[in-house]
Amino acid sequence: MGLKIGIVGAGGFSNGFAQLFKTHPLVEKVAIAELIPERRAEYAKRHGITEEYESLDEMLKSDADCVAIFTQRHLHGPMVIKALKAGKHVYSAVPVATEVEEIHEIVELVNRTRLIYMVGETCYYWPCAMFCREMYKSGRMGDFVYGEAQYYHDMKRFYLPFQRSGGENWKMVAGLPPMHYPTHSTGMILSALEDAYAVKVSCMGYRDNHSDGIFGEGKNYWDNPYSNETAIMKLSNGGICRINEYRRIGWERPSSYISGMYGTRGGYENSSMQHIWQEDPEGGKPVLTDVSDRLNTVEYVRDSKREGFSMEKNALNYKAYHSTFSAIQNFSRLPQNDTYLKLSTGHSGSHPFLVDDFVKAVAWYKLPPNNIWDAARYNIPGLIAHKSAMKDGALMEVPDFGGIPGGWTMLEPDKTETV
Ligand SMILES: NC(=O)c1ccc[n+]([C@@H]2O[C@H](COP(=O)([O-])OP(=O)(O)OC[C@H]3O[C@@H](n4cnc5c(N)ncnc54)[C@H](O)[C@@H]3O)[C@@H](O)[C@H]2O)c1
Repeated sequence: MGLKIGIVGAGGFSNGFAQLFKTHPLVEKVAIAELIPERRAEYAKRHGITEEYESLDEMLKSDADCVAIFTQRHLHGPMVIKALKAGKHVYSAVPVATEVEEIHEIVELVNRTRLIYMVGETCYYWPCAMFCREMYKSGRMGDFVYGEAQYYHDMKRFYLPFQRSGGENWKMVAGLPPMHYPTHSTGMILSALEDAYAVKVSCMGYRDNHSDGIFGEGKNYWDNPYSNETAIMKLSNGGICRINEYRRIGWERPSSYISGMYGTRGGYENSSMQHIWQEDPEGGKPVLTDVSDRLNTVEYVRDSKREGFSMEKNALNYKAYHSTFSAIQNFSRLPQNDTYLKLSTGHSGSHPFLVDDFVKAVAWYKLPPNNIWDAARYNIPGLIAHKSAMKDGALMEVPDFGGIPGGWTMLEPDKTETV
């Protein structure tokens, strides 16, 4: 018997996931819950889904094994808590939640129920993050010294996603503090470092003065005046991170990326389509390697070698060069059916890997990457960073709810067999 997955939210993002869940060999059935009837019906028709629910609450009464939550950013925490209490395994789009207390409750619930929770952090499978993870874990980076990562997404490209479900009050949600959505940036650095987590943070905010009236006191649910926030974090391993979460910036691609990550033996730097690794071991000779062909998409690498190809004219093309697989990604571990592999659309080809992790984790009862202990450590530093920004950069302690407790068998995605 395969799994039954209930998708919650038929908005823009979840459209990229219905077919991945449906065509995964360990899944038997997919259902949809959506508040807006026409959106629900259209989604069900488009994806050939026959079981529909009017809301998360209705779906939680069903026999679904798992729910996959794709609702608006600020709603996840309470929904995840409800779903775990109803006995469902949970996949949640980022962020985890917007309150530290909610994240704490989710950690406690997973500890008690031993249900699987996984946050769908797309950047975990972004080539720059995979590369830094590989270099750190192999020891070639040495001890971690410093990393800088960012997620840049200018608000003018965000109007539509917020308007889609926000109605007249869409700006109240669009003004979410940028550091309430820090997981793309923090996740890329912390997932490379395994057990390290943020212990202290200081953050500065850029007070927004754009005429669209999204950021400012009284203009959003959080009274948030900042469209851009920069945090400096001290990690438990002694290293330092600089994290930028910017929503008003004249920059398009890459959107989330590690610009530099350095250890005592080696370092990685990225500038647009160029990825450089340098190694400088003690007693050895420094070596520079251009690793761009492993990290850029297979399509970009192929096209960029053609005569007359112009980086300036092409590098910003999202569909062609930022949404499909790169050589560093081990797609041989994914279900080898054509439909599944062709669905590698969006966010550097990460979606099929995330769905595969979650489904295998539940079916084989193993703890996936981006489990609640990882996810809490990606998310909480951002929530505290925003509090620091509101106090003009005051240095603050970051609460930590611990690493993965004993008794779990880990899913090691790249070592597990395909199905
Ligand atoms: N790279 C990434 O990881 C990435 C990219 C894009 C979006 N996202 C995340 O995906 C999520 C969804 O974004 P979106 O742009 O698709 O939003 P959206 O507003 O288009 O869709 C959300 C849908 O959830 C529905 N919904 C809300 N409450 C519900 C309930 N109780 N029961 C059933 N349905 C409910 C809404 O009616 C809406 O249709 C967000 O959390 C966002 O952060 C992540």
